[in-house]
Amino acid sequence: MDSFDGSVAVVTGGGSGIGRTTATAFAEEGARVVVADIDVAGGNETVDSITDSGGSALFVETDVTSPDDAQTMVERAVEEFGRLDFAFNNAGIGGQSEPILEYDPEDWVSVIQVNLIGVFNCLQAELTQFSQQSDGGVIVNNASILGKVGFATSSGYVAAKHGVMGLTKTAALEIGDGPVRVNAVCPGFIDTPLLSDMDAETLAFLEDQHAVGRLGQPEEVAAAVLWLCSEDASFVTGTGLEVEGGYLAQ
Ligand SMILES: NC(=O)c1ccc[n+]([C@@H]2O[C@H](COP(=O)([O-])OP(=O)(O)OC[C@H]3O[C@@H](n4cnc5c(N)ncnc54)[C@H](O)[C@@H]3O)[C@@H](O)[C@H]2O)c1
Repeated sequence: MDSFDGSVAVVTGGGSGIGRTTATAFAEEGARVVVADIDVAGGNETVDSITDSGGSALFVETDVTSPDDAQTMVERAVEEFGRLDFAFNNAGIGGQSEPILEYDPEDWVSVIQVNLIGVFNCLQAELTQFSQQSDGGVIVNNASILGKVGFATSSGYVAAKHGVMGLTKTAALEIGDGPVRVNAVCPGFIDTPLLSDMDAETLAFLEDQHAVGRLGQPEEVAAAVLWLCSEDASFVTGTGLEVEGGYLAQ
């Protein structure tokens, strides 16, 4: 895979979990990274860790539910680093674990706001920037296996992630034959703080749902994101790359 030397990557939700690991992976491959997160402490920790290792990174406080914040995130990347090459739209929340009959409608809306509308806001700002660059750029949205199949008690999350897949395919069609590609990753259950509320029994059940008998690691998702951004994936657009240890194989 090519190096990302001198390129510029934005990672939303870069203050924790898969986002932090992917921001770090971009930086290790030579990219300058904008870490965008609503969590100031977490975002700054990621930036400090990258810069302490000799990389280049900037934190931009961003609430992806705000179109203005998404716009500012891209503007700050361009002001600081001159352009934008890659965007990983990854910020997300889990929402409640309740059946539809008992699901709090306000919580349902907030999951859609962060996990789906947040991706739309970022996509719009990023595609605007790419349209001003003759050599375009690459976007990867973080969907989930739950963007492909249902999961009882997670209706808001599942609906949002299916929406992210629809958005990904539509963006790929709209940009057509230009120098821009848009894909998604569809991770299985990954060992991050997002799963920290789950008890041991639930985690064991989830591990068993993967053919490999374990949860994934954030590094395994980051590797897929970087591959999708690389020239090796030049003929890949509008797809959801499954990184899921065989969860969908059964
Ligand atoms: N962990 C899993 O099992 C798993 C599986 C598939 C997909 N995903 C997806 O991966 C992404 C990252 O999840 P994670 O597991 O690393 O979780 P995480 O909780 O470790 O990280 C999520 C990050 O998103 C940030 N965030 C939340 N709301 C935000 C907002 N409004 N604006 C900006 N940032 C915001 C949080 O502050 C946090 O830093 C999510 O989209 C999640 O749905 C996770």
